[in-house]
Amino acid sequence: MDRLYQESFAARLDAAAQNVAALLSALLSNTPLEGEIARPEPLMSAMRSGVLNGGKRLRPFLVLETARLLGGPEHAALRVAAALECIHCYSLIHDDLPAMDDDDLRRGQPTVHIAFDEATAILAGDALLTLAFDILSAPETDLPDPAKLALINQLARASGIGGMVGGQALDLFAERVTPDEAGIVRLQAMKTGALLRYACAAGAIVAGADTQTLARMTRFGEIIGLAFQLADDLLDVTSDAATLGKAAGKDAGRGKATLVSLQGVDAARRRLDGLVEEAALLLEPFGAGAGTLIEAAGFIASRDR
Ligand code: IPE
Ligand code: IPE
Ligand code: MG
Ligand code: MG
Ligand code: MG
Repeated sequence: MDRLYQESFAARLDAAAQNVAALLSALLSNTPLEGEIARPEPLMSAMRSGVLNGGKRLRPFLVLETARLLGGPEHAALRVAAALECIHCYSLIHDDLPAMDDDDLRRGQPTVHIAFDEATAILAGDALLTLAFDILSAPETDLPDPAKLALINQLARASGIGGMVGGQALDLFAERVTPDEAGIVRLQAMKTGALLRYACAAGAIVAGADTQTLARMTRFGEIIGLAFQLADDLLDVTSDAATLGKAAGKDAGRGKATLVSLQGVDAARRRLDGLVEEAALLLEPFGAGAGTLIEAAGFIASRDR
């Protein structure tokens, strides 16, 4: 990858991150919305600390880029992107709790339960989960009703029992009973893959894509979802907390089963390269316009945090 190419991708990711952060900041204002009685402190501050703390905003970027590629309206795509980031940030706040991964560093700052307290962190996560569905269903998300309903229903499925939460449950069981390769792939497809899959599917739904295009984008999201967690697990082994902004070496410490612990770093890297190639092939029919999404797949594999 030459330098110019890399820089322009980084600039696009950064611009998307700024747009999403600005919308999230507005959505997390202290002013109650119609139908709300009040927005209490320190709940609001805890939510802001778990959201407006400099994540990569990769899931929002995927929503925006998929919608852009397929000609979807930008304003609606940005709201869907913000809703998805709320779910992601909630998942991180709860993932870091003492009862789960017990981490005190996230995005280079104290985790929400350290900066506030456990009860407030649990509630901040709860409120972000419901806020996501508020954002999608609100009139400001200006899309035809069938598209909105599909976005809401698919986000519920990606986030809940058969998606992220179910995957987190399997991840906790896996600390006690080591799953086989298929079991690890399934749990990762759920805990991490489901939200990345949703990101790409949602961009296509925002754009009113046909069934075939939606299926292709969904598959692309599935593949990069697997790649994403594989890269995360590799970074946990090969990097350090100062670079990652979160603890390193945690998975081995907790006896967490990952493809890296099962097959080793080299095999995991080869697998990751294969996933990125597969993802790029899926987007070939879209031609040069899909270049940014293909770069996103490469970024997922080669990122350093
Ligand atoms: C971390 O996700 C959690 C996983 C699903 C592995 P990210 O690496 O996208 O975290 P942020 O949002 O950039 O902090
Ligand atoms: C997190 O996986 C997945 C979700 C938050 C759903 P990890 O536990 O590996 O994520 P990090 O390493 O804490 O970011
Ligand atoms: Mg975890
Ligand atoms: Mg964790
Ligand atoms: Mg991890």
